[in-house]
Amino acid sequence: MDPKAVKSDLVLILDFGSQYTHLITRRIRSLSVFSLCISGTSPLSSITSLNPKVLILSGGPHSVHADDSPSFADGFVEWAQSNGVFVLGICYGLHLLVQRLGGEVRVGEKQEYGRMEIEVEKSCGIFGGKKVGDRQVVWMSHGDEAATLPNGFEVVARSQQGAVAAVEDKDRRFYGLQYHPEVTHSPEGMETLRSFLFEVCGVNAGWKMEDVMDEEIKVINNMVGSDDHVICALSGGVDSTVAATLVHRAIGDRLHCIFVDNGLLRYKERERVMETFERDLHLPVTCVDATEQFLSKLKGVVDPELKRKIIGKEFICVFDAFAKELENNLGKKPAFLVQGTLYPDVIESCPPPGTGRTHSHTIKSHHNVGGLPKDMKLKLIEPLKLLFKDEVRQLGRILTVPYSFLKRHPFPGPGLAVRVLGDVTEDNALDTLRQVDEIFIQSIKDAGIYDSIWQAFAVFLPVKSVGVQGDQRTHSHVVALRAVTSQDGMTADWYVFIALHCFALRDWCNVYVPHLSQLYTVTSICSNVSFKLEILGRRLLVFYSIDSNMYHFEREFLDDVVQKICNNVRGVNRVALDITSKPPSTIEWE
Ligand code: XMP
Repeated sequence: MDPKAVKSDLVLILDFGSQYTHLITRRIRSLSVFSLCISGTSPLSSITSLNPKVLILSGGPHSVHADDSPSFADGFVEWAQSNGVFVLGICYGLHLLVQRLGGEVRVGEKQEYGRMEIEVEKSCGIFGGKKVGDRQVVWMSHGDEAATLPNGFEVVARSQQGAVAAVEDKDRRFYGLQYHPEVTHSPEGMETLRSFLFEVCGVNAGWKMEDVMDEEIKVINNMVGSDDHVICALSGGVDSTVAATLVHRAIGDRLHCIFVDNGLLRYKERERVMETFERDLHLPVTCVDATEQFLSKLKGVVDPELKRKIIGKEFICVFDAFAKELENNLGKKPAFLVQGTLYPDVIESCPPPGTGRTHSHTIKSHHNVGGLPKDMKLKLIEPLKLLFKDEVRQLGRILTVPYSFLKRHPFPGPGLAVRVLGDVTEDNALDTLRQVDEIFIQSIKDAGIYDSIWQAFAVFLPVKSVGVQGDQRTHSHVVALRAVTSQDGMTADWYVFIALHCFALRDWCNVYVPHLSQLYTVTSICSNVSFKLEILGRRLLVFYSIDSNMYHFEREFLDDVVQKICNNVRGVNRVALDITSKPPSTIEWE
């Protein structure tokens, strides 16, 4: 997609390494404004060529006083001023602005981390209709603070400890927030971003997924010649499916998809996925049963990395054979390859300054199962490379990809091989795991909690324990169950049931008493979990008390799952629940 073709002003984020930078981009897009994120130290020409209306300097883990602290390019300030570009510095971004414009930043007398109240000192567009003296809770995370402001800057809000919390230089269009408006712990942060973009900067919003789709179809049609052929490996996951569906819209049956059954798929996965591809999406897919080919190569292999390498290599062999067969049938080589690369992969391939990581396009290579044979010389089509996962799901909905498919939990390319610890060909491990996993996932679906979990699955452990079943001692396998919540898979928490209760209450208000939705405010989601409903001027407080049972799957749910597993799956007599977050663990066990 060509960023310049988007019918929206561009808000460009300069990334200085904050863990929240992607979140700023996503929040802005959720306001229908197009936003991109590039490294904070990008040359000025990379910024000017994108012609942004607004620039946001992100936070970051650095102090502006450190020798190697990252900064924006020389000439940035002059360019922004002479082109009428609005600039907002957040946390470290604010410190940079202050320092580079001649003010002083110093280590704060009191460091501010976590929730903090701020008070408006001067009315300012960035706080919308807020008056002097109005207060709000925000999320702070800083050691340095702005001590002396550059000429032309004014303080518009201070923290309860007296630190500068928000500044403006209206004439030069420079703004700064010491806190993070993008995180949910700043409850009015979204409102602040909205006021800043629409009231202060007058941004034109026109970022719509329908437009993204139309634009992308145009780009694909311009790129692919009228007799060119394109191939795509479908994994059964959301990204490759949406990418293929989009390309199919553009070029029809000159797209040739392949779905490989490597013997490492979940229960009935091949049948289920193929049915969706053929019946619902009308995609031309060749299904290759390569079970024997993969499993024979994996026999006796226990090292996780070796397993991955073997699987990657076999994928390439299957893929190569498919491309050659196509060439024979079509009389010409396929020219393009579709990949479901997402925006976080692109951003991650260009790590922000100061992280010690270098520019690398292989950072997620293990997620691109195997890569491609070098001599294929295919040009890449990556239609989703500016989108986040939730946007891909949105696009999928427009393309009528079935909802159940879009909401599927992520599944790793090496499949069950990374969920059977040890040799996948021993002890009937794959079949056992398929049955256990199916029981767990079906129970989660039946309980109506599938969509609130990022990923849930079972793991087969190559150890046996003693049990007693039907008055007999048994010596059978142990399986583990894992369910996590996550935004993007980079970090994760084990599934906490309380979150569901909170959201359920909020959704209940939205669904069943929608006329009240204007009137109620969720005051807090997770600290003490209280909901404030203001009804006809009367304040009704609904406290959601937390007892320890609500911090995980309900007891009856787990009892039921474990019973079903032990009663129905031969060779399993013990079930463990994994309650480790990421870090220190990873989501998968291998
Ligand atoms: P980890 O286990 O690294 O996983 O915390 C993060 C996310 O990536 C998925 N994952 C993979 N996906 N090939 C893939 O295509 C892989 O080798 C692989 N390893 C992990 C994992 O399921 C989770 O969503």
